Parts: sequence; structure tokens; C-alpha cells
Amino acid sequence: MSDERVQLAKMYVDDEMRAAVLEVLDSGQWIKGAHSKAFGAEWAEFCGAMAGTPCSNGSVALIAALRLLDVGPGDEVIVPSHTFIASATCIDQVGATPVFVDVEEAYHTLDPDGVEAAITENTKAIIVVHLYGQPASARVFEISEQHGIPIIEDSAQAHGATLDGQKIGSIGDLATFSFFPSKNMAVGGDGGAILANREDLAARVAQAVDHGRQDKYRHDFLGSNFRLSEIQCALGRIQLRHLPDWVLSRQRIAALYDSAFTDLDGITAPATRPGAGHAWHQYVLRVSDRDRFMAHLDGHGIATGIHYPIPCHLQPVYSAHPQSYPGSLPVTEAICADIVSIPVHPHLTDSEVGRVISAVCSYES
Ligand SMILES: Cc1ncc(COP(=O)(O)O)c(C=O)c1O
Repeated sequence: MSDERVQLAKMYVDDEMRAAVLEVLDSGQWIKGAHSKAFGAEWAEFCGAMAGTPCSNGSVALIAALRLLDVGPGDEVIVPSHTFIASATCIDQVGATPVFVDVEEAYHTLDPDGVEAAITENTKAIIVVHLYGQPASARVFEISEQHGIPIIEDSAQAHGATLDGQKIGSIGDLATFSFFPSKNMAVGGDGGAILANREDLAARVAQAVDHGRQDKYRHDFLGSNFRLSEIQCALGRIQLRHLPDWVLSRQRIAALYDSAFTDLDGITAPATRPGAGHAWHQYVLRVSDRDRFMAHLDGHGIATGIHYPIPCHLQPVYSAHPQSYPGSLPVTEAICADIVSIPVHPHLTDSEVGRVISAVCSYES
């Protein structure tokens, strides 16, 4: 129906998923079974990574990744402030200090010059975020290599993205993903994954989500229970088979938006990095009068969102952080003030895409 609200995200459920839930329930193997093992391997294979494991969510994936790199008190970790809070708070969770770096205005990902300037003798890791599904600059990976500082790809929003032909998740020392329900693929609840691209890390990545366990009674390093259930792993394996088509749909819708949203007064369409296969988790416009624009779209029955209105360094949780003052990261702060996400999920109908386009184009700034 044409007057139904166009949502920012839509959950996908089919009969194969329903049957898989019942099958796992009846099997009695609810954790640590064949689906967990297979999903970790299949996710790693899809991303071109050396090894992988599912885990409970994208936030603990980051904590486990930092533990795998032995990051702790006294260490600094470079991270963008323009991201979901978990990219930064994972650093505090292991007792280290986040060092916030600004983003490239065009692409919303870590500014390589800022990264280089922020490196000190205490820098133990870099967390690069492929925000909205936009791959971060290859230069950030080069800088990490030149300085011998390991890099974690926070790929929570970038399932299926590529950078210069290489899959996101296969470039950094480690990569983390979220399967939160609205992400590019999901697992019927919270969920996540960690991938490793170094022999030493690949050998320990599964232990990192299971108490650092070597065998039933032996624990090699500090860990916790960050496992994902068998039901969710079974659902993830099914959704993974759909993911390539879903990413193509997101790219097709984004291309329609790109060509419709040139030369609009007061609205700037997002740029795609040259050489990037953008996964379009979000399609984010910059709009001069955001509240009025969001009200306009709301009036046309179209949901919008803001990812994210408050940068990490200005969040109350970081009020004691030395970078916690307005103006410390000017590009991030300017972006957070005028961004708006519009629906780009793969289940939008042609008519819904048309409604989004005409609503955006009819906005008068
Ligand atoms: C960039 C980024 N990092 C980390 C996370 C945390 O993932 P989760 O919600 O699965 O814990 C998210 C989730 O929104 C995210 O977008």
C-alpha cells in the first residue's frame, strides 16, 4: 500500500529460518555445536579472512579483539569519534585510553593525517570504523603497517563492502562485526563475529569468546563467555547466503538516490570513496535545516534517523576525557550537526524508493 510508512530497516524472516530454529531446539545442542563452527568458518570465508568466530554482539567482539592484542592499562588506542559509542568504550573496558581522531569530511572515516599525528610511543592499536558501510582509507592501513601498530576493522556496518577489490574484514589484523537486527545481515537477536588475519591471532580467535579456553579445564588468557547460540548461528548461516544479493540491492538503491540527489538546494548527497565497494548500511545526507527536513520526510510517511547526533568525545561518559570540549574535532562535530539517514534497506519496493526520492526532492530549503 502506497501510504504505508517507509521504515529505515526491515527484518527478514523466511520458512527456512523458522525450520532451522525448530531443528536446533529439537537437537538439544544449543551452544558450541556444528552451526557455531560452520558459521565462523563461512563468515571468514565470505570475508576472505584467515579465521573467524561468531560472538554475542559487535561490542564484545571489540573487547575480545583488544584482549587478543594484549591492550590494557597505560595503552592508547586511536579511534574515530564519529561512530557508535561501542567503538570507543571497548577501549576503556580493557583499561586503555581512547585517542579520538577526526574523520575525512567527504567519507566520514578516519583521517589518515590525523592518525599519523596522534601516534605516540603508547599507541597499542588503531580501531578503524567503516562507517555506514563506507570503507576507510587504505592509507590508514599503510600507516598501521609502517608503524607496526595493529589495526582492528570495526566492520559492524560494512558486511559485504570492499576496498580496492579486497573484502572488508580481510585487511586488518583483526576485524569485528555486529549482527544487530538492523544491520546488513542479522541472526534473530544480538550477535557478532571476530575475524583474524594473522596466524598467531587466528590460532586464538575462538578462545577469545570462550574464557580463553584451550580445552575444557585449561584457560590460557583472560576471556569471558562471549559465545553466540546455535539457533542464532544457524540463522546467520541462512542470512549469509542472502547477503550478496542484499548488498547489491542496497547499492542499486543508493545509485538511484545518487543520481536523483544532485544539485538539490541545502542537501548534499554522500560521496563514495574511489575504489570502494560501499555496503550502504546507511545512506546519509547532509542537510542545512535538519529538524525541518526530518519533519518534511515524516510528513511524507518516511522514517529517518541520525547516526550519530552526539560524537563520542562529547558524550557524558567522556566528560573527563582531555578531548571532551566543543571544537576539539571540528569535522566530526560539523558532520554530527547536519547528517540524516534515509531508508536504503534491500527490502524497499520500487514504489517506496520512488516515494523517498520525491519526498527528498520536494524539500524546499
Ligand atoms: C560501528 C559500530 N561498532 C560497534 C557496534 C556494536 O555492535 P552491537 O550493537 O552488536 O554490540 C555497532 C552497533 O551498532 C556499530 O554500529
